[in-house]
Amino acid sequence: MSRHRVAWLPGDGIGPEVCDAARMVLDAAGFEAEYLNGDIGWEFWRVEGEALPRRTLDLLDHTDCAFFGAITSKPAAEAIRELVPELQSRGLTYRSPIVRMRQLLDLYVCRRPCRTFRGNPLNYRENIDLVIFRENTEGMYIGVEFPRIPEQLRAIPQIKALPADAAISIRSVTPGASRRIVEAAFQYAVQHGRRKVTAVHKANVLCATCGVFLDAAREIAANYPQIEFDTANVDAMCMWLLKDPRNYDVIVTTNLFGDILSDLCSQLTGGMGFGYSGNIGEKYAVFEPTHGSAPKYTGQNKVNPLAAILAAKMMTEWLGELEIARNIERAVADVVERGAVRTYDLGGNASTMDVAQSVAESVRFAHAMR
Ligand code: IPM
Ligand code: MG
Repeated sequence: MSRHRVAWLPGDGIGPEVCDAARMVLDAAGFEAEYLNGDIGWEFWRVEGEALPRRTLDLLDHTDCAFFGAITSKPAAEAIRELVPELQSRGLTYRSPIVRMRQLLDLYVCRRPCRTFRGNPLNYRENIDLVIFRENTEGMYIGVEFPRIPEQLRAIPQIKALPADAAISIRSVTPGASRRIVEAAFQYAVQHGRRKVTAVHKANVLCATCGVFLDAAREIAANYPQIEFDTANVDAMCMWLLKDPRNYDVIVTTNLFGDILSDLCSQLTGGMGFGYSGNIGEKYAVFEPTHGSAPKYTGQNKVNPLAAILAAKMMTEWLGELEIARNIERAVADVVERGAVRTYDLGGNASTMDVAQSVAESVRFAHAMR
């Protein structure tokens, strides 16, 4: 078996705990890799003024992919107050390291599978199996924001008409980025026997930006006559998803709508304890549980590690270790269905590591049966 090089980025809060859990399962599954630890998160912001230090970016440069736990983010003013005194007046701005990795490494696909596991008491309905393709590099996430309108922009009539104390955020949507995310969604649909792709937008109000996205989606869809294609406004989509999520299959959308819809879809399939993501580019990818750092649970060995374990599964799949990926997913299904070992979110009192151990045993069994 090839030896993979994985940048290991546990981050803040419960990040290290769920990463340990994922690691236990990866080892049990027979996944062989060299893990290289990287610094990321709040402590590095506080002490160095940079949550994603240069040395970590270099590490990403020298690895095949990264596994990321979670990071703490705080509002701008609070972020500045928490800096060590000597950095306080440097005019630094906190930027989310996960958003930066997505943009700097051009990880343009954020793939977020949301499927139910049988026997999960939190399933909203049984047999939900959706995959969200979230555009991961532009949209509302470009970080072009002004707490007060800059003078230069006041020359634009629509901006001049705004109240003097307005804050503004700029959304950028390009045909190129829209095409490639929609293309990725259709490619996935073809490769995985999916029947339908739904493009989600708000083109009735955000005419310019969502118009570009929708045009690109229609253009790409025309190349895939064998896959059903439809479109929906994001507000209606939330309603339809609650009405019957089984009517949907592959969902493709812009960055912020994808962020919102993915939490909604995670909840349909067991909550944030099951939400996982692959941030995938042409040559590099970062895998992560979608949940945050949950500071109040830090160090308690309490949270559900299945999201991190499923993110690890997705990583092995991306690295071409398909059998390992299948075994991990089966082991998760097995543990959820047996129901004997469950964290608090599923009504149980097992710890993070109890669940990891239980998945590891199940996966070791599958590995031994090869
Ligand atoms: C996610 C998260 C991030 C996002 C945060 C942590 C910046 O909510 O991955 O969905 O908004 O993309
Ligand atoms: Mg989110």
